[in-house]
Amino acid sequence: MGAPVVLGIESSCDETGVGIVSGGRLLAHAVASSMDEHARFGGVVPEIAARAHLHAFNPVVREALDRAGLRMRDVDAVAVTTGPGLSGALQVGLAGAKTLAYAAGVPLYGVHHLAGHVAADTLEHGPLPDPCMVLIVSGGHTSLLLVRDLVRDPILHLGDTVDDAAGECFDKVARVLGLPYPGGPAIDRAARAGNPCAVAFPRPLTGPRDDPYAFSFSGLKTAAARWAERHRQSGEEIPVADGAASLQEAVADVLTRKALAACRAYEVRTLVVVGGVAANSRVRALAEERCAAARVELRVPPLTLCTDNGAMIAAVGDLLVRAGARPAQLDLSIDPSAPL
Ligand code: KG4
Ligand code: ZN
Repeated sequence: MGAPVVLGIESSCDETGVGIVSGGRLLAHAVASSMDEHARFGGVVPEIAARAHLHAFNPVVREALDRAGLRMRDVDAVAVTTGPGLSGALQVGLAGAKTLAYAAGVPLYGVHHLAGHVAADTLEHGPLPDPCMVLIVSGGHTSLLLVRDLVRDPILHLGDTVDDAAGECFDKVARVLGLPYPGGPAIDRAARAGNPCAVAFPRPLTGPRDDPYAFSFSGLKTAAARWAERHRQSGEEIPVADGAASLQEAVADVLTRKALAACRAYEVRTLVVVGGVAANSRVRALAEERCAAARVELRVPPLTLCTDNGAMIAAVGDLLVRAGARPAQLDLSIDPSAPL
């Protein structure tokens, strides 16, 4: 008999993701996104996201199983995101997961969305070293975590954003610059033609008296909005590429500077960068440069596993199953504002 097959379900925001993992290996995954439906509102609309999950759930489960060449009867456990995230969106995923687990007669495991982001990297690079530093940067989170053993030890939360998340900053500034939603990838593309030194955007919370592991991005967003407004008022065209490159530089600088300071302070030799913003080309390049200089190993999962997906939830489920963790009961609830 082979390793147990775990089907993971993610529905905390605008992606319906289903992944299948067995023995630490990704067999297949599929993702449907309702991003386009939110684009004209400039952000995720919870009600629309929840309906889209309802629509996508069965097709995405089927697609993932088909890609793996498996049927539901081959699945040994179901894992599902219980939080944090949008409550309506989480409820659709959880109801679907419960139904699948109950019908297939297999155990159900609740998974923390951020643990999923961390575990995504194991699917590409194997088990995480103990300890490792994890920088989670997405549309909803900017956190520095000290991780020992994802299943057995509580994650030590070193710092968080005090206001906006890094991805949120990209999304909001993109809007000001007239770039499409989601803003992160649009800023990344626009920045290619720009000068990262053109605008001296602030580096928030990097002073000697500031919390070394706390982040703040709302001031950066305001600075970018003011800069754009000054151009608009003087009737000039906004130099979008320069603004995008300079903003990206500021965000990448602050993120990598703090992550490496944490590695140094806690004597950690491995930095894992996960979440949607880990897809940013400047964040990746600067992380590589600074990790090499500090002799810290850098691990970044491939782009498709950086953004929300079901494979990362299956990866945690797989670790839980193999560690002999106790499954959830069928009255398992969502926890939209779950702490780590
Ligand atoms: O992890 P994710 O898919 O969803 C959660 O927020 O949990 O992250 C989405 C965020 C969005 O804010 C998006 O703009 C950002 O990741 N993002 C990027 C890039 N690709 C996605 N930000 C900067 N550069 C990118 N290339
Ligand atoms: Zn996420």
